[in-house]
Amino acid sequence: MLANASVARAARAAASGARTMATSVSGLNSRVCAVLGGQWGDEGKGKLADVLAKNYDIVARFNGGANAGHTVVVNGKKFAFHLLPCGLIHPHTQNLLGNGVAVDLDALDEETAPLESEGIEWRNRLFISDRAHLVTSFHKIVDGLQETRRAKGAIGTTKKGMGPCYTAKAARSMALRVGMLRHWDSFATHFRNVVEDHQRLYDFEYETEAELERIREQASRVNPMVVDGVHMINKAYADGRSIITEGANALMLDLDFGTYPYVTSSSTGAGGICTGLGLSPNKVESSIGVMKAYTTRVGSGPFPTELTDSRGGGDLPDFAPGTDIGLHLQTVGAEIGVTTGRKRRCGWLDAVVMRYSHMVNGYASINITKLDVLDELEEVRIGVAYSLDGQVLPPGMMPSTLEDLGRVEVQYETMPGWQTSIADCRSWDDLPANAQAYIRRVEELVGCPVSWVGVGPGREAMLQLC
Ligand code: GTP
Repeated sequence: MLANASVARAARAAASGARTMATSVSGLNSRVCAVLGGQWGDEGKGKLADVLAKNYDIVARFNGGANAGHTVVVNGKKFAFHLLPCGLIHPHTQNLLGNGVAVDLDALDEETAPLESEGIEWRNRLFISDRAHLVTSFHKIVDGLQETRRAKGAIGTTKKGMGPCYTAKAARSMALRVGMLRHWDSFATHFRNVVEDHQRLYDFEYETEAELERIREQASRVNPMVVDGVHMINKAYADGRSIITEGANALMLDLDFGTYPYVTSSSTGAGGICTGLGLSPNKVESSIGVMKAYTTRVGSGPFPTELTDSRGGGDLPDFAPGTDIGLHLQTVGAEIGVTTGRKRRCGWLDAVVMRYSHMVNGYASINITKLDVLDELEEVRIGVAYSLDGQVLPPGMMPSTLEDLGRVEVQYETMPGWQTSIADCRSWDDLPANAQAYIRRVEELVGCPVSWVGVGPGREAMLQLC
C-alpha cells in the first residue's frame, strides 16, 4: 500500500515536471530562494540579495514598500533601494514588485532616477503587480497624524504611509490598487471618495484634484510596467527560471509574529512570500535568515538585549571603548537608518530571537552580517535564554505581550573577542579562532548552519562557508 502510494507520488511529480526539492544551504542553486530578515530589520538583506542575484533570473519583493532601506555597495559606489528590488543592479535580471508590496509612485520616480544616471537600464526589467496597493501622499499624511495621536504610545513608524495603506487594503472599500490606474475615470472617482473617507476620520486639508493630476501623469509611465504578478511569477517558475524573493523589514517586525504592536503592517516572514507573490509554499526551496552579529532595532518597542547607552537622538557620539558598548556598536556599525535617518538602538546578539525566527521561517541557513563591527571588543555576549518569573522559557517561546517582554530577564554567555580587524578576511580559515568560535556557538544555539558571513559593507566582503 505504502509502496504504491510513493510510486504514485513519484509518477505525479515526474508528470508535472517537478524538480527534486534539494535545499541549497547557501541559496546559490535554488529554484526559489528567500532572503529574510531574522531580527528587527536593517540586517543587510540588500547585500545578500545582491550577492545571490548574479545566479538568479528574477528578484521579487513581496512585502513592505519604501519603508525598507536596502543598501548595496558595488565597487565603492553606494546604491540605496527603498521600494525597488536590489536585483536591478544586475542587468540580466527581471524585477517584480509583488501584490504584497505597497507601491509609492513618488518613491518609484526617486529611485529610478539614480539608476538612470548610472546608466542602468531598468525600463523593460521592472514589473509591478496589478494587485499591489498604492501608497499616495494622503496615506503619508494620515501616517503622521496617527503617530501624533498615539503620543506617548507612538510606534515610531517611518511615516511612509505603510500602516494606512495596509489598513485600507484590509478595509477593502478604501483601498487603491495599481491595476485600477488602467481605468482612469473610475480610479479618479474612487480616489476622491477614498480621500473623503480618510478626511472624515482624520480631518486634514488635501489638494485632491492636484494630486489626482500628478497621479494621472505618473500612471501614464507606470501602466506599461503593470502585469498580472501572480501569473508572471508562476509562469517564470514553470518555465524553470530561478527566483529570489527579497524580504523587507524582518520577522520581529512581522504583523503577526513580531513584537506587536511595535511592528510593521505587512507579513515580513516566510508566509509573506505566499501571500505577497502568490507563490505556493512548496516552491520555496531555501530561505536564508539574515542576522547581524549583534542586535539593533529602530523606533519604539521591546528589545530585551538592548544596551541602553545607545538610546537617544543626535549625531553618532564619541564613545569610551570597552565601556559604552551600545554606543560602540552604533558608531562602528554606522547604525543610522537609510530611510529615516534615525539612530538605531543597539544591543547584544539575541539567540532567543534568532531561534524563534528560525522556527517560524525555517531557514536553510543564516547569513551573519557585520561581524567586523565586533572587531575591537574585548569580549562579546550572546543572550541565550529568557526567564520570566524565575522560569526559563522553553526554546522557541517568545512572549506575546509587551508586559511580559518588558519583564523577561536575559541569560547571557560571554565569549572572548578577537580584537583584530577581519575586514580583509575572505575565507573561513582567515577568521581569527575567537571569531570562528562565535559563529560556531551561534550555529549551536540556533540549530541552523551559517552559510555566509559579512565582514564589511562591500560585495566582496562576504565569506561563503557552505
Ligand atoms: P531593511 O529592509 O530596511 O531592514 O534593510 P536591509 O536589511 O537591507 O539592511 P541595510 O541595507 O540597511 O544594511 C545595513 C547596512 O549595513 C548597510 O549600510 C550595508 O552596507 C551595511 N552592511 C551590510 N553587511 C555588512 C557587513 O558585513 N559589515 C559592515 N560593516 N556593514 C555591512
